[in-house]
Amino acid sequence: MSTAQRIITARPVTDVPPVVEESLDHAERSELKARISELMKEQDAILLAHYYTSGDLQDLATETGGCVSDSLEMARFGHATSAKTLIVAGVRFMGETAKILNPEKRVLMPDLRAECSLDLSCPADDFAAFCDQHPDRTVVVYANTSAAVKARADWMVTSSIAVPVAKHLHEQGKKILWAPDRYLGDYVQKTTGADMVLWQGSCVVHERFKADGIRELKQSHPEAAVLVHPESPATVIALADVVGSTTQLINAVRDLPQPTFIVATDNGIFHKMREVAPGKLLLEAPTGGRGATCVSCAHCPWMAMNGLRSLLHVLETGINEIHVPEDIGTKAVHSINRMLNFASANKVALRGSSGD
Ligand code: 13P
Ligand code: SF4
Repeated sequence: MSTAQRIITARPVTDVPPVVEESLDHAERSELKARISELMKEQDAILLAHYYTSGDLQDLATETGGCVSDSLEMARFGHATSAKTLIVAGVRFMGETAKILNPEKRVLMPDLRAECSLDLSCPADDFAAFCDQHPDRTVVVYANTSAAVKARADWMVTSSIAVPVAKHLHEQGKKILWAPDRYLGDYVQKTTGADMVLWQGSCVVHERFKADGIRELKQSHPEAAVLVHPESPATVIALADVVGSTTQLINAVRDLPQPTFIVATDNGIFHKMREVAPGKLLLEAPTGGRGATCVSCAHCPWMAMNGLRSLLHVLETGINEIHVPEDIGTKAVHSINRMLNFASANKVALRGSSGD
């Protein structure tokens, strides 16, 4: 069957690994952190940790002058620093984005198996065929995609800027092809009224949050504000007081007057939320529970692959370097820079919190 005849759809992601958290006692933790800090100094390395990684990695990033933030700020911080080596504690697309923006730097990751179900749902060849079927559309992809998919796109966006970019394109009369997250795409479409066709990928963590469970929890905590990441289903988004990216949800916990928050995003984010709002009660939005219907239980299994032990191993051996072929990197950087330029021109706040 030719590509043109095929119905192009998202690749189902079935082989989701179990969540395995690193477990360390106090002495091991201190020893590992001390040894890692020493090697980072020797190798002129800086740690960029995502909000969904373990508290240990987030603390180490802060203590060593690195950055704890969302995916975009990790890359921007990496670009601004003079360090020659960037260690990206997160998932593969974050390492690739850092490398695309900083081709001259060495980019290492604690575990190269750390994928993302959105990225996995959108293989570059199928995506290119999907784009070929819609030549009249502007191609906008979420950051959670491979370098090759970004190379095929006109724009890359993160969740903090997806709505303003789609609104801007809609006002210019442009039609959009969106990939890969169908829930975020649906949210952007409804918010902006833009004409969008959507790739049908999803995040295995966020798609498990349940509207019924949140309603029940809200009955016992009527004072709570509901915070939702837009990778969640529309029924969950409909219950939100705030819909936003990881950074925007952290800022909401810090700035809103409510004493209690029901949080529908990866529970790794609680580490930073507790730090910025120590007195507030944070409740995990219910998923399917730890039973048959819950794959992720509010924690990303790929983010959980990052740990202090694997980070030390990487620094000792130099393994797990991220490489992006030059031809792909040179194309992909345009879609990323388009977003960065739009953000500065429109003063869209994208900053996370950093250790500096
Ligand atoms: P951010 O872009 O906010 O870091 O989110 C990335 C992500 O994977 C959310 O699930
Ligand atoms: Fe991907 Fe979801 Fe994990 Fe974020 S939480 S990295 S979107 S699988």
